Amino acid sequence: MRSPITDYLTEALDGVRDDDSGELAGYIPELASADPGRLAAVFATADGETYSAGDAEVAFTIQSISKPFVYALAIADRGLDAVLEKVGVEPSGDAFNELSLEDDTGRPLNPMINAGAIAAHTLAGKKGLDPAARLARIVDGLSAFVGRRLEVDEAVFSSEMETANRNLAFAYMLRSHDILEEDPVAVVEGYTRQCSLLVTTADLAVMAATLANRGVQPVTGEQVVPAPVVRQVLSVMSTCGMYDAAGDWATQVGIPAKSGVAGGLIGALPGQLGIATFSPRLDRHGNSVRGVSLFERFSTDMGMHLM
Ligand code: DON
Repeated sequence: MRSPITDYLTEALDGVRDDDSGELAGYIPELASADPGRLAAVFATADGETYSAGDAEVAFTIQSISKPFVYALAIADRGLDAVLEKVGVEPSGDAFNELSLEDDTGRPLNPMINAGAIAAHTLAGKKGLDPAARLARIVDGLSAFVGRRLEVDEAVFSSEMETANRNLAFAYMLRSHDILEEDPVAVVEGYTRQCSLLVTTADLAVMAATLANRGVQPVTGEQVVPAPVVRQVLSVMSTCGMYDAAGDWATQVGIPAKSGVAGGLIGALPGQLGIATFSPRLDRHGNSVRGVSLFERFSTDMGMHLM
């Protein structure tokens, strides 16, 4: 339905449409063949309204945007102390696909980089779950954030596993430090399936709105994770969500955010709004080029910067 807000979003998309800079995520063959022209933006309010423009219902894989939500499930399921024992909260200043372990403990520096997300993946669900049951907990949990049942894109999963040598190497390193306590290959398979869950931009906006709404899904009313868990997650998104571009993001946009290599990008404005954009071409940090431009515009136009 048209409204002044959807008109604003449509105009914002038109403002970035011609920017064809950046590259598709070439290291995952299936993502390298995505349609680079796709473009969408969605606002989802903390009281359950949604405003969409562009390709808001086109499905793509969630990739690293799964990381803050799985981190939230891990804290909810195991408690913050148990999670902090295995994954830190410090920005790495390096790319998402660098190892970035703490010298003395072997903990990954934070749960937004791949090594930290692989560790966090194993902490979702009760201790001792087998890989399939743990993945089921993750799919159920992320589906509750969205408010509909999510499914894995098996083609993207298989494609990413073919080139997952770096993540496998990280998992073996984590195993050697006893950060992982189980088979590294099975862990990377589970983590890669988590990244291969299909979502739309509209889904991502509602997931972000659930974070903005202190863990209560604005449409279903379900408290998906407790409010103190959300505070922890948003804090880590603020400092680490945009990887080695976190400083630029903090100064220019100024809200907690997370990107994914399929081109999704979310931001949460606590108490108010979840925002999601989709545009597959990425900058050198692995963040969507046109997504970053859109968020810069939203932040300026609406005074969203939290500082
Ligand atoms: O582990 C990987 O490399 C991917 N499944 C996720 C990386 C990602 O989305 C980085 N974000 N911009």
